[in-house]
Parts: sequence; structure tokens; C-alpha cells
Amino acid sequence: MEEKSTKGVWSLRRKLVVFIPVVLIVVGLALGLGLGLTIGRNDGDGDGDDDGNNPSPTITASPLPTPTGTLPWTPRVNDTWQIVLQSNILLPSESSTPTLTPNVSIYDIDLFENSKETIDTLHRLGKKVICYFSAGSYEPGRPDSAEFKEGDLGKVMDGWPDEKWLRLDNDNVRRIMRDRVELAGNKGCDGVDPDNIDGYQNDNGLSLTAQSSIDFVAYLSSITQPLNLTLGLKNAGDIITAVLPVVHFSVNEQCVEENECTTFHQFIDAGKPVFHIEYPDGAGKKLKSDVVTKFCGRTEDAQGIDSFSTVLKKMDLDGWIEYCDGTIEVTSMNQTERGN
Ligand SMILES: *[C@@H]1O[C@H](CO)[C@@H](O)[C@H](O)[C@H]1NC(C)=O
Ligand SMILES: *[C@@H]1O[C@H](CO)[C@@H](O)[C@H](O)[C@H]1NC(C)=O
Ligand SMILES: *[C@@H]1O[C@H](CO)[C@@H](O)[C@H](O)[C@H]1NC(C)=O
Ligand SMILES: *[C@@H]1O[C@H](CO)[C@@H](O)[C@H](O)[C@H]1NC(C)=O
Repeated sequence: MEEKSTKGVWSLRRKLVVFIPVVLIVVGLALGLGLGLTIGRNDGDGDGDDDGNNPSPTITASPLPTPTGTLPWTPRVNDTWQIVLQSNILLPSESSTPTLTPNVSIYDIDLFENSKETIDTLHRLGKKVICYFSAGSYEPGRPDSAEFKEGDLGKVMDGWPDEKWLRLDNDNVRRIMRDRVELAGNKGCDGVDPDNIDGYQNDNGLSLTAQSSIDFVAYLSSITQPLNLTLGLKNAGDIITAVLPVVHFSVNEQCVEENECTTFHQFIDAGKPVFHIEYPDGAGKKLKSDVVTKFCGRTEDAQGIDSFSTVLKKMDLDGWIEYCDGTIEVTSMNQTERGN
């Protein structure tokens, strides 16, 4: 099946709102200088965007009840990981134990793009597999995209002209997400990483609130738990207190950049890992040691990042990765251009 190129940059959609005016000004000033602009960074002046993420949570809602039953596997604090979402990872098939780089415990990979065979092979190599899908946005070009109805969709996501926010309480949306979760179960994923559940922080056109997201995470828990899938919370710092009993790990983007790692440290305090991604300028080549020091939270003003599982990545989440000890690895990935 042809699928669309997995979207490049995840929470960047929130950043573009801030960044585009900056680009226009910079382009205006730099006109004719041939200045190479790279996408994606604001200058670290700490946010200023509309994501509603503040170091102190603002949402007061009672914590959800803890699900009954235990899962065969939940990730642990300090577990090592890699995340590759740009396309499917490649494992040479001629050997039953092909070489896989990096040799970390957990791979977070795209649910649709990767086959059951790939996941089986990762398991043979002793890895656990977390399967990524968008739970709160409509993406064209996914195998099930035609099942969404016009009334399910809200506003176009800032910076993502092809994607639209979804009504999180809608029966059809929830049925499609149930099918995605079942696909994850059938492919043998150990957990899921449902993205874009934080529509309330954005201009979504659907009047989504923090409570909509809390209810939706409760729904996701009710369908993942019976399938033995561990459940992650992507970003959404201000609903952590409410949903922490039903989620098993955090996938966080840029808490150092946004100065909100203490918010996500609630996971560590609860004995649950934070899979933490930063996107430093210049990622893709070995980063300068002061950059690694900054994004790995080793500067004096860094707070809350201790015991996070930090990785330094390019915004397109391809196979390149640098760890906080300076190790660089590249996971083989399908480079085939996909039609959109
Ligand atoms: C979930 O795991 C338990 C063992 O931990 C097993 O007994 C049960 O059959 C599993 N359920 C599914 C749906 O795989
Ligand atoms: C990968 O890591 C595991 C667990 O630490 C270890 O047992 C295994 O030998 C490693 N494999 C390679 C190829 O280094
Ligand atoms: C995680 O690793 C850090 C750094 O090695 C260590 O200080 C911390 O105690 C570890 N946390 C857990 C819960 O193992
Ligand atoms: C690489 O991606 C293309 C386009 O999606 C797909 O047709 C092809 O099967 C993939 N190749 C491998 C080896 O996974």
C-alpha cells in the first residue's frame, strides 16, 4: 500500500505559529545574503507560543481510577530507546538475528508503516516495541483515512495543511482508534504512543477542552489495557495529574527547550519513564558538547530532567540519534520517496 510520507515534525506544528513571523522578518532582513534558513527552531527564548504548557499545571481534575489487572510489560524509568517515525525501519531479512542499531531496549515506530514481521524480528532481538499513531488528528493517506467523516474533523493543524484536529468524543473517531489499537495488538506491539491528544492546547475548531483529552485518554486506556498494550501520554503536561493512573510512560518533546521538565517529572515520581526528545539545531551531525550539555539537562539551571530517557533527534525523526553520552547511531530506514 502506498502511504503518505509520515509527517515530519511532531510538535513543530505548535512552533510554526511563532516561527513563521520570525522567518518573515529574518528573510526580510537577510534578503540577498543567501542566508540558509533551517526549519523549526525558535530561539529558545522560552516559548511564547499558545500551547498552554506551563511549568505549573493549570487543570484541576480528579485523577482517573487505576485500571484493574496488570500488564505483561510496562517500561521502566531509565529504559533506553530509539524513535523512528519518518518511515519503516529496515532489518536485513536473510538472517534471523540481523544487526540492529542502536542496541537499546525499546523502539518507538510507526504502527502503519512497519510490518508484523519487523516487530517479530525486534522481539527476537530482545526489544520491546511501542507503536506510534495519530489518535487526535486526521491524516490523509493512512490505510483507514477514508473512514473519517467530514463531521469528525475540526480545523487544519497549524503548520500541517493536510491534517485536521479530530472530535475526541465522536463515536466514529473512537471506532477508528479502536481499530488502530487492535491493529497494534495484532501486529504484536507491546505498547502504543498515541499522538495529538492535546487539541485543547490549540485552535482546534471543535471546542475541545482539557476534559475532552482526559476522557479520551480514559477511553484509550479502556481499549489498550484488555489487549495488554501499555499506553503512553504524548506531551499534554497539564493533564498529567488526571491521567497518570492510566498511562505507563510519557513521550515528551522539548521540555528543556520549553522549560517544563519539572511538569513531566511527575511520571518519574510515580515510577514511570519519560521518553524525552529534544531537537537541537545541527542534529544529524555530531552535536557540540555544550549543546549536548544543555539539552541533556546538565546545565546548572536545568531542572526536573534527572532519570529521563533523553534522546537528541532531527525534527523529521529519521534514523539518526545522539545520546547524552555523545554516542551517535543511525537506524536503517526505508529511504523510498512516497507519493503524497
Ligand atoms: C494478557 O497477558 C496475560 C498474561 O500476562 C495473558 O494471560 C492474557 O491472555 C493476555 N491477553 C491478551 C489479550 O493477549
Ligand atoms: C544488545 O544488548 C543486550 C542487552 O544489553 C545484550 O545482551 C546483547 O548482547 C547486545 N547485542 C549486541 C549485538 O551487542
Ligand atoms: C536513572 O539513572 C540516573 C542516572 O544514572 C540515576 O541517578 C537514577 O537514580 C536512575 N533512576 C532510577 C529510578 O533507576
Ligand atoms: C519502502 O517504502 C515503499 C513505499 O512505501 C514500500 O513500497 C516498500 O515496500 C518499502 N520497502 C521496504 C523494504 O520496506
